[in-house]
Amino acid sequence: RDTKEQVGQYIGDYIAKRINSFKPKAGRPHFVLGLPTGSSPLPVYERLVELYKAGEVSFKDVITFNMDEYVGIPRDHPESYHTFMFKNFFSLVDIDPKNTHILNGNAEDLYKECEDYEVAIKEAGGIDLFLGGIGADGHIAFNEPGSSLSSKTRIKTLAYETILANCRFFSNDLSAVPRMALTVGVQTVMDAREVVLVVTGQGKALALSQMIEGGVNHMITASALQTHPWALVVCDEDATNEL
Ligand code: GLP
Repeated sequence: RDTKEQVGQYIGDYIAKRINSFKPKAGRPHFVLGLPTGSSPLPVYERLVELYKAGEVSFKDVITFNMDEYVGIPRDHPESYHTFMFKNFFSLVDIDPKNTHILNGNAEDLYKECEDYEVAIKEAGGIDLFLGGIGADGHIAFNEPGSSLSSKTRIKTLAYETILANCRFFSNDLSAVPRMALTVGVQTVMDAREVVLVVTGQGKALALSQMIEGGVNHMITASALQTHPWALVVCDEDATNEL
């Protein structure tokens, strides 16, 4: 697509179509949607809200699992992924908050929190469609370079590049950016029946070319998607500059 808005529109329409055509099955009564944060998916959320307001899609029977959350900032911190999701999506559509799942970065036992998340995904019937973004260093969710491609939900220390990239959200104060996060693993994303990646802007051009044209490797964790049976990358013109 030419622009990030068009990318958002395309993916929003695509997800709505999937939700509308979902047929409940034994053990899979709900459409299960995996969701990211970040600036790239914002136009997707805008489109989904637009479609909801036009009566073209409902999220009443949708269950969501978010990719990741920072460790150590309050849930209601303006930059927490909880805040992001409720502000940009959940509070604007008819989803039941009980059907939304976001890792709790303040859980007393973070290891148990991660294990329980994998169990909850399985109990919901597995993820039907995982929407994702990509970091400038090729990471998916918070699976920083070097992450195992068979990783499941766990605690990750953020790469310096990621801390730097996120600094802009914390008043450019490097010391305020969380150093750790809980994140679904590369394998958790790979286990989804379908994965859709939103990649926009010149800043992602190198990551996109490494992910698609480089080999599958753990330094560009999004490259694992090359082996997924049903992965779709939707990008704008700027993101294709290095292809
Ligand atoms: C963070 C998130 C990723 C996201 C990435 C890119 O690292 N954990 O899920 O893909 O940022 O964000 P943006 O879309 O703002 O460039």
